[in-house]
Amino acid sequence: MQVHATIADVRAARTAMGVQRVAVVPTMGNLHAGHISLMRQAREYADVVMATIFVNRLQFRPGEDFEKYPRTFAADCAQLEAAGVDHLFAPVEAEMYPQPQTYYVEPPPEQADILDGEFRPGHFRGMATVVLKLLQITQPDTALFGKKDYQQLMVIRNMVADFNLPIQIIGGETVRAEDGLALSSRNGYLSTAERIEAPRLFQVITKVAAAVRAGNLDYKQLEQEAMVQLQVHGWLPEYVALRKKLDLQCAPAHDSGLVVLAAARLGSTRLIDNLEV
Ligand code: PAF
Repeated sequence: MQVHATIADVRAARTAMGVQRVAVVPTMGNLHAGHISLMRQAREYADVVMATIFVNRLQFRPGEDFEKYPRTFAADCAQLEAAGVDHLFAPVEAEMYPQPQTYYVEPPPEQADILDGEFRPGHFRGMATVVLKLLQITQPDTALFGKKDYQQLMVIRNMVADFNLPIQIIGGETVRAEDGLALSSRNGYLSTAERIEAPRLFQVITKVAAAVRAGNLDYKQLEQEAMVQLQVHGWLPEYVALRKKLDLQCAPAHDSGLVVLAAARLGSTRLIDNLEV
């Protein structure tokens, strides 16, 4: 695997790839099986698979976990090598932001200020800005993102469409531990007791999805019951919401193509998950 630390270096490598099909998988590192499944899926779309690792300060709010976000570069490289990734772009902060970023991608409030955006104001603006930069730098034909961050994937799809970027966006299925917990770098923050409790988030949204499939149309009540279920087991739920898959707007009863999304805090760790109905 060729590792590129600078934009000039990765651009030169990209030019040398010529007409080969290139797929990129942007990450913040601390890779787990979910990321690796995206790397393998990328191979279906491309001759050259490229990963990026960059912990993007812009998408963290003050007081969030930017400083403590796990940086595990050597282990990440070993996993990428083993997965057959051809190129890695891993810049330091000064390479991506040599001076403070002055232009931003501003996703519309109806997409970016709901659900996660309500609890993490500015997150999607910072995320979309760095993703646009990474796509401009790596110039892929295809880019892959996990469905675990469902709202992120929607924002990226809309940004790419609105800016006419000639890039195919692919969503990869969420990879779960045996007990159902969605793999996430933030799972590493959980204590032993919290790790045992953590699969409840998936159990709760699975119950909501099953109720909808069985014909229950009282979405508000299903959402509230799910929040209570989490609360009584010591969680601080932020939202459990049944939304339309396409745009994550509220779903009228009977609407097909739904997804149930949830975010909740367990101790000091914030977990998110979702399940298509
Ligand atoms: O999902 C992530 O890891 C990040 O939000 C991304 C897409 C790499 C942008 O920093």
